[in-house]
Amino acid sequence: MSLFNRHILLGVTGGIAAYKALELVRLLKKEGAQVRVVMTKAACEFIAPLSFQALSGHSVHIELLDVDAENAMGHIELARWADIFIIAPASANTLSKFSHGSADNLLSTLYLAANCPVYIAPAMNHVMWNHVATQTNIQIVQSHGIRLISPEAGEQACGEIGVGRMAEPQTICTRILADLTQQPQVLAGVNIIITAGATREPLDAVRYITNRSSGKMGYAIACAAQLAGANVTLISGITALSPPKNCRFIQTETAQAMHNAVFENINPCDIFIGAAAVADYRPIEVAQKKIKKKDDTLTLTFQKNADILADVASTKNPPFTVGFAAETHDLEHYARDKLVRKKLDMIAANWVGGERGGFESCENALDIFWQDGHKSLPMTGKETLATQLISLIAERFHLKIKPI
Ligand code: PMT
Repeated sequence: MSLFNRHILLGVTGGIAAYKALELVRLLKKEGAQVRVVMTKAACEFIAPLSFQALSGHSVHIELLDVDAENAMGHIELARWADIFIIAPASANTLSKFSHGSADNLLSTLYLAANCPVYIAPAMNHVMWNHVATQTNIQIVQSHGIRLISPEAGEQACGEIGVGRMAEPQTICTRILADLTQQPQVLAGVNIIITAGATREPLDAVRYITNRSSGKMGYAIACAAQLAGANVTLISGITALSPPKNCRFIQTETAQAMHNAVFENINPCDIFIGAAAVADYRPIEVAQKKIKKKDDTLTLTFQKNADILADVASTKNPPFTVGFAAETHDLEHYARDKLVRKKLDMIAANWVGGERGGFESCENALDIFWQDGHKSLPMTGKETLATQLISLIAERFHLKIKPI
C-alpha cells in the first residue's frame, strides 16, 4: 500500500494500448491509490468508459464542457485534486497538444491546470515515434518537467517491429513507486510519533462524544514521514482508514488511552506531531447501562482531559514538538497562543468548521508558526500538504539539533 490515499489522475488517449490502462488502474488501486480517469473521445473508441468506472469506482471524465461533470468535480478542481497525473497511453496527437499548450479537450486542459508531477507513457507506431516532430515534442514536454516512461521495443499492433509499445502497467507502477520512495531521506532514522484521528469519550454503554476528524491529515503525515526515512509510530483514534504500510500502528479510543499510548512509546522519540483531534473534556461518569430517556433535559458533567501535546513538550528532554491548531476564528492569535503556552517548537494551524478544508475533506491548507518564523502552505491534497509539512519540520528539526 505504498500509494496509500495518493490521488492519481489517469489520462487515457486513443490507441490500442488503452486496454493496458485498465490493468494500470488495478495495480495503482492495489497500492492504495485513489484513481480518477479522464479519457479522450478517441480513447472511448477503444475501451468503454464503463470499464474504467467499474475499476476506479468513479465516473469517468470525458467532456470539457459538461455541466454535470463540472458540478460534481470541475476540471480545475480535478487538476488540483491530483497528487500525480499519468497519461497512459499518450498518443502522438496528445503529445503535440501538450507541447503547444493547447486546451481543446479535457485532457489537454488538465495538463495546463495541473501543478503536480506529470508522467507520460507514450504508445504509437514505431515510425511515428521516431518522427522528428514527435521527438521534438518529447523534448519540449520534458522541458516542462514531464517525466517520460519510455515506450518499449517489440511487435506492434500493426504487425511491425520497433520501439513504440506502451511500457507495461507494472513498469509504470514500479517507476512511480520508485520515484516516491526516492524522496529525499530528510528524516532518515529519526523516530517520530504522530497522533491522528478523533478520540471517543463514552457516555454510557452505547453512546459516545467525538468530533469530525477523519484521520486523513495525520495518516498522510505518517506516510510522508515514513517516505522521508523516519521510523514512524502512528497512534490513532477511531477512523475508517487502513493503517499505512511500514508504520508502527497503535489503535486507541479515548483521550486517556491515547495519552497512555504516547507515554508508553515516548522513548525513543525525536519528533512528536499531534495531529489528532483530542477531546478536551470527558464525562465524569460513564453509565454502565444505556441512559434511559426520562426528563426533557439531560445534564452531563465533564472533566478536563490531560493535554497530550503539552505533556510531551514538558518532559525533561522533550522531542521536537509540533502541534496543530484547529480554529473557526482568529486563527493566528490562537495558534501563536498555543505555540507559547504549550511550549511547542512549531504549530500548524488550519481552519475548521467551514468550507475551507480541515476536518474530513481530502484537501487542506496550513499556516505554520514557530518562534521567529511563519510559512503558509496553500490549499492542496492532504498527501501533498503532508510532504511539504514534513520537509519544513525536517528543516527546523535539524536546525534545532545542529544549529549552523
Ligand atoms: O482528521 P482530518 O479529518 O484529516 O482533519 C484534520 C484535522 C483538522 C483534525 C487536523 O488538521 C487538526 O487540526 N488536528 C488538531 C485538532 C485539534 O484538536 O486541535 P486543537 O486546536 O483543539 O488542539 C491543539 C493541539 O493540542 C492539537 O495538536 C491536539 O492534538 C492537541 N491536544 C488537544 C487536546 C488534548 N487533550 N491533547 C492534545 O494533545
